[in-house]
Amino acid sequence: MNIRRSLIAGNWKMNLNINKAVELINAIAAIMNEIDEVDVLVAPPFTMLPAVRKAIGSSGIFLGAQNMHQDMSGALTGEISGRMLQDVGCTHVILGHSERRGIFQETDEIVNLKVKAALVLGLIPIICIGETLEEREAGKTFEVIKGQLNNSLQNFKADQLMPPSTILAYEPVWAIGTGHTATPEQAQEIHQFIRKWVEDNFNIGTANQIRILYGGSAKPENISGLMAKPDIDGALVGGASLKGDPFINLIRFKK
Ligand code: PGA
Repeated sequence: MNIRRSLIAGNWKMNLNINKAVELINAIAAIMNEIDEVDVLVAPPFTMLPAVRKAIGSSGIFLGAQNMHQDMSGALTGEISGRMLQDVGCTHVILGHSERRGIFQETDEIVNLKVKAALVLGLIPIICIGETLEEREAGKTFEVIKGQLNNSLQNFKADQLMPPSTILAYEPVWAIGTGHTATPEQAQEIHQFIRKWVEDNFNIGTANQIRILYGGSAKPENISGLMAKPDIDGALVGGASLKGDPFINLIRFKK
């Protein structure tokens, strides 16, 4: 039996507005009572968080943010702290997304500080890692993944870093927003590698419990194949999370 609950998480990126967000949440909330084996999470832009929190009500949808600053407060114009995210009801935060790494120059060292801050607060980090197309084609996928894991997750003790609630996400950059989903076999190969890394660097209990999501053009048509793989515990979904129908069909996936 799989001890890990599946998780389908929607990363809305810089899309929607408050009205559309509430509409989308209402549509998801309406089917939550028929879903009992899958956790559901949405990560809206900051401005929509309070309205989304309210619309979520007691439906059981988890609320996450897409980023945070590592400091708790201070003279940091334009930044949002983890404490502020908790203040509006977030329980999760996506950290180290490839768009943050690539477009906003977030290094593994910064991701490491952010993870540390989230854990101090009790916010659950969804820590993203993944290789670019050039890195894959150069045969460097494992090296890159290992480097990101080593550097983003350094200096943590097993009990500190990896409660069952800490989440990892493998998102091959070449699959994000491109329509080129990794095959279930390609994704499984890396998920297995990541789980083994967790076992080697922390312990087997943590490795068995930690959820590893796949991200990169996940959609209703490919979710079942991905979820059938033993080390794939869910999906971090961009494009297909912005409308009720595809996202609800993702949540309703059948292995
Ligand atoms: P995508 O994005 O589903 O649109 O490829 C995934 C992500 O970036 O988290």
